[in-house]
Amino acid sequence: DKGNHRHFMQKEIFEQPIVVAQTLRSYLQRLEGQIVLPIPEFDLSGIRRVTIVACGTSYYAGMVAKYWFEQFARVPVDIDVASEFRYRAPVMEPGGLMIVISQSGETADTLAALRHAKAEGQTIAAVVNVPTSTMAREADLLLPTHAGPEIGVASTKAFTCQLSVLAALAANLAKAKGRLSAEEERALVRHLAEAPAAINGALAYDEAIEAMAPLIAGARDVLYLGRGTDYPLALEGALKLKEISYIHAEGYAAGEMKHGPIALIDDAVPVIVIAPSGPLFEKTVSNMQEVQARGGKVVLISDYDGIEAAGEGCLATITMPKVHPLIAPIVYAVPVQLLAYHVAVAKGTDVDQPRNLAKSVTVE
Ligand code: M6R
Repeated sequence: DKGNHRHFMQKEIFEQPIVVAQTLRSYLQRLEGQIVLPIPEFDLSGIRRVTIVACGTSYYAGMVAKYWFEQFARVPVDIDVASEFRYRAPVMEPGGLMIVISQSGETADTLAALRHAKAEGQTIAAVVNVPTSTMAREADLLLPTHAGPEIGVASTKAFTCQLSVLAALAANLAKAKGRLSAEEERALVRHLAEAPAAINGALAYDEAIEAMAPLIAGARDVLYLGRGTDYPLALEGALKLKEISYIHAEGYAAGEMKHGPIALIDDAVPVIVIAPSGPLFEKTVSNMQEVQARGGKVVLISDYDGIEAAGEGCLATITMPKVHPLIAPIVYAVPVQLLAYHVAVAKGTDVDQPRNLAKSVTVE
């Protein structure tokens, strides 16, 4: 049932404040200021290496998590798309934790990677949305997302719930490694607990994004740029736009643009720049100015301070609430989803059932 919504995708985008809160509730003890995983018997302190494997949007959630695991827990992280993982003879030493991330828990490549790593003696943690799925059953440790059924082929609420679980897992691993003081843990709990309200703040920009969709709908190509954890978001933005609006889009690490894709820039290629204010902001803005100097039309997604500092001369700006860097990827996912959604609606495509795609990809 779509309720008041025109599409399941729209409904699922708007459910995010609730389902992220629901997911966080089973990982955070807010009063105690503690992060607790639903796998109490498992001791994470022996984990020496993490391997993340997933496909599509779930893979981009994993890319964001790599930054967190390395930053908080100082544990090295390998990440691969599941369809490549088995074919590169990955080195899997004892003490390795493999994390598979999947909305459906049935994606064939991810499941094959899980089985391969299990046979190699890795401990398998599964971040999955369908609790009865094959991956949920075969994993050693189940870390559920509580997004509820996701019907739209484009993954939205599953992504933000995956990020919520992965942030909690990274913090927990840091704690097990003695790298997180009680005070730091309390602060992380506070920041994560702010995510649902911040998502609501992001959703308030829906109509403004709808109004700017026609600016993008006529484009043949669109570029997305981001740095740090906003780089995977750029990839996610491009994937979302491609799959439902059929516009060719690419996500790039902002600093990598001048190594090639900048040749594409002209006034017909909109460039979406994802840049919350913070330590990486200036660098990303200078990449954005390289685009503008070549006649490129920029849509800047930032917070009020960022828009104040760099919004002038942009084709359009999207203002997000000011949030802690930990939850920025969760919050900035929303405008990226809404933009793809409204562009697809403007183009009149079949948003929930895009051509050539299936919700769950059960062939390798
Ligand atoms: O069910 P999974 O999370 O394993 O699915 C992975 C991908 O097939 C999925 O994220 C796909 O890329 C989506 N259609 C993206 O919106």
